[in-house]
Amino acid sequence: MARLDVTETFDSITFPGHMHTQDSLNYATNFTFQDTDTVIVTYPKSGTTWMQEILTLVLSKGDPTIAQTQPNWARAPWLEQYYCPDVLKFSTGPRIITTHLPYHLLAPALKQSNAKVIYVARNLKDVAVSYYHFHKMANFLPDPGSFPEFLNAFLKGTVHYGSWFEHVKGWTDHSKDIQNFLYITYEEMWQDLHGALQTVSRFMRCPLAEDELMLAQKYCSFNSMKENAMVNYTLIPQEIMDHSKGKFMRKGKVGDWRNILTEEQSCLVDDVYSSQMADSSLSLNGEW
Ligand code: A3P
Repeated sequence: MARLDVTETFDSITFPGHMHTQDSLNYATNFTFQDTDTVIVTYPKSGTTWMQEILTLVLSKGDPTIAQTQPNWARAPWLEQYYCPDVLKFSTGPRIITTHLPYHLLAPALKQSNAKVIYVARNLKDVAVSYYHFHKMANFLPDPGSFPEFLNAFLKGTVHYGSWFEHVKGWTDHSKDIQNFLYITYEEMWQDLHGALQTVSRFMRCPLAEDELMLAQKYCSFNSMKENAMVNYTLIPQEIMDHSKGKFMRKGKVGDWRNILTEEQSCLVDDVYSSQMADSSLSLNGEW
């Protein structure tokens, strides 16, 4: 079988080569956005799939039909992945587009439109742990080595999709340059999913009645999504994502890092966070 863990490098950032090419990355960075587009922007493992589901269910007013019959990559394709043009060719109505690209790569194209942007951020310790486990099951990602080795690469920003710090800083520092920008955290969604759905529905100017909100909340809960083949990636062949090595819908918890990081590793992350985020406009509380 051909190796899946090939790497594509674009603007000094590496990407999984089985889904990204120079052409697909050029397509993304030169994309013509429409004012009616909604773009979900995340660093990997920050709640991308969850926001895709939340948006789908807000727009369907809680009706799970689309969420349960169309794979997430077909209803909210990743802009930088090679199949995106084919998906968008057949899309009708307002488009939901997903991206992991950093701000500096997407901003020139995005600023030409009034597309809505939803940025989802997650605690970097939980992202590191989730990303590490994902590397173990996703055969298109490089072997992560031991957790300490992976954590070092993650903190240096040499993992695929680049630096978490640059991603979060880039998008949040320039949020005022984007007309319709919503910043929300995984932790907020986790603590108050009902409130997060209301926030998203207000942002989308798509009001939901209370019973519609309750339905949406039910279908984008971790337990529902874990069982939904359209989002749990069980449709992906075993040789690409090996579900015997772990689940995509792994734990869905806040603070799982406490089970993995040692005290020393946690302090290291805090130190790197303080120095890397010193020039950031983002103010986060200590727990986050
Ligand atoms: P864990 O690995 O910590 O469980 P992404 O979609 O950006 O790749 O992020 C995947 C992470 O989001 C995984 O985290 C996954 O379990 C979590 N996730 C997905 N849907 C969720 C939901 N409904 N509730 C809570 N966490 C969810």
